[in-house]
Order: sequence, then C-alpha cells, then structure tokens
Amino acid sequence: MSAGRDAGGGPSGGSRLLGLSDGLLVARALHLVAAAGVADALAGGPRPVGELAAATRTHPDTLGRLLRVLAGEEVFHEVEPGVFGLTETGRYLRSDHPDSVHAMLAFSELVGRSFADAMHSLRTGEATFPRTYGAPFFEFLRAQPEADRLFNAAMAQATRRDTAALIDAYDFGGARRIVDVGGGDGGLLLSLLGAFPGTGGVLFDQPHVVAAARERIGAAGLAGRCEAVAGDLFGALPPGGDLYLLKWILHDWPDAEAVAVLRGCRQAMGTGGRLLVIERMIPRGGRPHPAKTLDLVVLVLLGGRERTVPEYEALLAEAGLSAHRVIDTGSGLSILEARPADAP
Ligand SMILES: C[S@@+](CC[C@H](N)C(=O)[O-])C[C@H]1O[C@@H](n2cnc3c(N)ncnc32)[C@H](O)[C@@H]1O
Repeated sequence: MSAGRDAGGGPSGGSRLLGLSDGLLVARALHLVAAAGVADALAGGPRPVGELAAATRTHPDTLGRLLRVLAGEEVFHEVEPGVFGLTETGRYLRSDHPDSVHAMLAFSELVGRSFADAMHSLRTGEATFPRTYGAPFFEFLRAQPEADRLFNAAMAQATRRDTAALIDAYDFGGARRIVDVGGGDGGLLLSLLGAFPGTGGVLFDQPHVVAAARERIGAAGLAGRCEAVAGDLFGALPPGGDLYLLKWILHDWPDAEAVAVLRGCRQAMGTGGRLLVIERMIPRGGRPHPAKTLDLVVLVLLGGRERTVPEYEALLAEAGLSAHRVIDTGSGLSILEARPADAP
C-alpha cells in the first residue's frame, strides 16, 4: 500500500483531510490576487510576471508562486514560462466582467482575516469580526469607505447573478409599492421596476448607502417611481408598501434582532401586505449546500446565521407574521412569502 492510500487502494482519510485543508490555501491565493487587481491588469492579454507585479504593486517572485497555484486550478494559464494570462474561468475575476465575482473575492481577503481568529466564535458563539477589526461589522464599514464600497459591490454582484431567477420565480408585477429593506445599492429594486412597469419602489438602507443608491436611481431614469429612504433597520420602516423585501438581511442577525426587524416590517405593512424573506435556506440532510458555508461567514462576521424553513417560520410567528409558501428559485436562493398572521 503506498502512502496516502487506504487498504482498498483509494485515497486515505488522512489524505482527504489534508486535501480539504489545502483548499484554504487555494482560496487565500484567490482572495489575494483579487484584492491586488491582478485580473484587471491582464485585461489586454498575457503578461510576464515581472511586468504584472509592477502593474499591481506586488512582489514578482511571490506573485508568480500564487499564480502557479491558481494555474493548477485553471484560473490562470501559464502561456510560456513566467508569462500568465486569464483562462475562461479567470475572466470572471475582472472587475468589468458582466458577471464579475471580483468584489466578493477581494472583500473575502478582509473576511479571511477574521477566520484566522475564529476560535473565538467556536468558543463563544459570538462574531469574531469585532475582535479582529475593533468594531462590529457594519460600524467598521461605516468608518472605512473603501471596504464599504467593496462590500456593497460584492452584494450587488451576488444579487445581479440571482435577479433573473427571482423574477422568474415570483410575480412581483402584482405589487404596487415594493419596499426593499436593506436594499443596498438598489440593483434588485431597479431591476424589478424595470421588469414590472406598473410597480413603484422604496429603497431603504443606511444613510451613506442610500446616498450612493440615489445617484443610481436617477441615472436609471427611475426617480419618479423610486424613493430612497435612509434610516435604521431597527427603527421605523417606510409604511404603506404592499410588498416588503428582506433579501440577505435576516441572516446577518441573531434571532432577537431578526425578530425585531420582522416586527418593524409587520408594523409598516397593512394587513393586506406581503413580506418576502429571500435567503439561502439550510436544507434537510447532510449533503453540502452553499447555505451551510455562508452560515459560517455570517457567524464569524456578524454573529448571524442561515436558517431552515421551520426556523424562519418560528421567527415570523414571533413577529405576528405567518409563512404562506416557500419558492425555490433554482439559484440557491429561496423566497419565503409571509403575511400578517391576522390577515383576513
Ligand atoms: C448583506 S447586505 C444585503 C444587501 C441587499 N439586500 C442584497 O441582498 O444585495 C445587508 C444590508 O443591510 C444594510 N444594513 C445593515 N445594518 C443596517 C441598519 N442598522 N439600518 C439600515 N440598513 C442596514 C446594509 O447597509 C446592507 O445594505
């Protein structure tokens, strides 16, 4: 039996574990080259590593070693010794690709530093981010404009990838006034208003996020149909909507805060209103699922959690809402439609 093989000739458990552990190194290499903007510097085609290092203010030998690892994963292509270009997969690392994942991976460089300290979360169940960065996640972002820009871009890129699936899965056209609570840069709401001309919208988020979104709304020519309202998720929410959206909001928070946000929605909506909780739901069973890994991200960053459908139903019930139906959009996101528990 050779080293690393079990008695049956397959990879041993030990080899499998070490292989899983190496995944961290590949991921970190990816985050580092994303944060350094390497793919954008390759937009014009393959370049020698020395030239690429000069363009990205990185150390040539080290950059070459990172690219060698990522060439093994078919992100980069070593077209001749020491000359690297982007593969078809690697093109998604460019910030100008229509389906770019650049911001998410560059932001992951910052997130990854909290994972290095995450024994704190394992010991306590609390977020680690405040220990790493000295402030809670959203407070830190408010004080760090460049990190905040990257985070909002990451959210926008992720949401853009899911928008078509959401529109296919749910009839947003039945709504008159859609309130997107924590709607970020407004990308989803603007897509909905574009797809359903009879709807109007309210984007609600923190003041500095709304300020940036307002420009986007104006540029889309939708200022007449879309208000941008600044405020606190835990204060009064814009009243009078007939459809409230909470996309990737509840997973940011522990149960008590999540119920507070749901109560705010319940208070703002009339008895005829509907609320859509849009999240990755943890499925039954042991198979891998992106919700299970995202769960660790929101734990370490925010003390939040991904939840099962019954867990969401319990939170809704505490806030005076009842789950009506769950729609799997096929994109990994589900839509849980809720109504006031006392709706006629
Ligand atoms: C995970 S992002 C989701 C953004 C967007 N809904 C999406 O799915 O792309 C969470 C959003 O909640 C907003 N947020 C966080 N804390 C808030 C608060 N106290 N008041 C208002 N908005 C808040 C953030 O600014 C951010 O846009």
